[in-house]
Amino acid sequence: MKLVNLKDASQQVSFVEAVKIGLGRQQGVFFPTNLSKLDKVDELLDLPFATRSAVILKHLIGDELPASVVNEMVTRAFNFPAPLVKVKNNTYCLELFHGPTLAFKDFGGRFMAECISLFSEGERVTILTATSGDTGAAVAHAFYNKPNVDVVILYPEGKISLAQQKLFTTLGNNIHCYSVKGSFDDCQALVKEAFLDDELKKTLGLNSANSINISRLMAQVCYYFEAVSQLPKLEREKVHISVPSGNFGNVCAAMIAAVIGLPIARLSATTNQNDTVPRYLKDNEWQPNTTKESLSNAMDVSKPNNWPRVEAMLVDGLYAKDNFFSRSVSETSTTEIMKALHVEGYLAEPHTAIAYQGLKQDEQGDGTEIFLATAHPAKFKESVDKVLGTNIPLPPALSDALAKPCLAESITADYAKLKQAVYQKLNVGL
Ligand SMILES: Cc1ncc(COP(=O)(O)O)c(C=O)c1O
Repeated sequence: MKLVNLKDASQQVSFVEAVKIGLGRQQGVFFPTNLSKLDKVDELLDLPFATRSAVILKHLIGDELPASVVNEMVTRAFNFPAPLVKVKNNTYCLELFHGPTLAFKDFGGRFMAECISLFSEGERVTILTATSGDTGAAVAHAFYNKPNVDVVILYPEGKISLAQQKLFTTLGNNIHCYSVKGSFDDCQALVKEAFLDDELKKTLGLNSANSINISRLMAQVCYYFEAVSQLPKLEREKVHISVPSGNFGNVCAAMIAAVIGLPIARLSATTNQNDTVPRYLKDNEWQPNTTKESLSNAMDVSKPNNWPRVEAMLVDGLYAKDNFFSRSVSETSTTEIMKALHVEGYLAEPHTAIAYQGLKQDEQGDGTEIFLATAHPAKFKESVDKVLGTNIPLPPALSDALAKPCLAESITADYAKLKQAVYQKLNVGL
């Protein structure tokens, strides 16, 4: 697979290089130079999830990895289901929260972890990341006990929910957590400083494993095929999918799925009140506003870093602009939809409710509709209970983590102290 830097076309890299580098020159994202169509999509849809996903990923990655290796990686990474649940008539929900950290990030995170540990070829790799909540858990679980890989996670002390925190601080072994006395921005500043420290970068084999990594997107393509495969055959035409969008990575994966042959007739990238893309599509002006805090806080993004990838496919005519929609959903509508869905018997957290509303806003009255549930309702228990007047039970993954002791070390927001603590923990001489 050859990929090009969308900000500097002179930089072309292989899949392995793109996974290792993450981001290209001038902070440009990598995108495949060629997305060829899959053969016999109907037959592919008849295969089991992991088997089919291995075929799709092998098709995308090409000759760089043997089919047997891709198959092993996928079998380990996708060891939980993505059920399509009928909500009413022609409307279905693709539930992506049945993995270890109860969110869609488990698919991309686990496949990325497989890639990074394979490509490190026995060399030491240290994943360093700052988290304001969910990323820490997904990264920690994905890399937990992977040989030659250590994970260092920084989070702002006392500023993330206990459930979020315990999902990663209780693991131990190769997962090292630091609660930083400061804000999320302080944590990010420490990470930035570490990536500017050549000595540390080299000693630890630093990698950010962030959400821009192409391996994540490739993995996410697979669950769109899984959604369509679970539809009755007669309902597979005119499929409309709505994706709750923040950084636009998930919807980018949906578009790639369509480009390589999955019949997705209409695609909605539905945002919360952080509506840079909906305004851009309307006025043709890119004007990010200050980010506003929302109930769907994982989508509080005003400069979506995957948008250049989506735009490249639209501009190149790989996916028809007329079939792509992006509209925003207000906070009031979000709570109204959560309530309406609850009355209909479906429990949705705010991100999922926004995806549902995206279907309704762009409805044409025919075909099959699929909205994505990107997180388990219990991950947003506080807001769900407040809006719906419920007291939803915690799934075992959350209640078990809450019962375990937190293994994080508390540090001040001081780079020298962090470096010393990490070197000590990883037995590296200063
Ligand atoms: C629960 C949830 N839903 C939706 C999104 C948005 O996905 P994307 O950033 O790929 O658009 C996120 C992103 O973190 C998320 O955590």
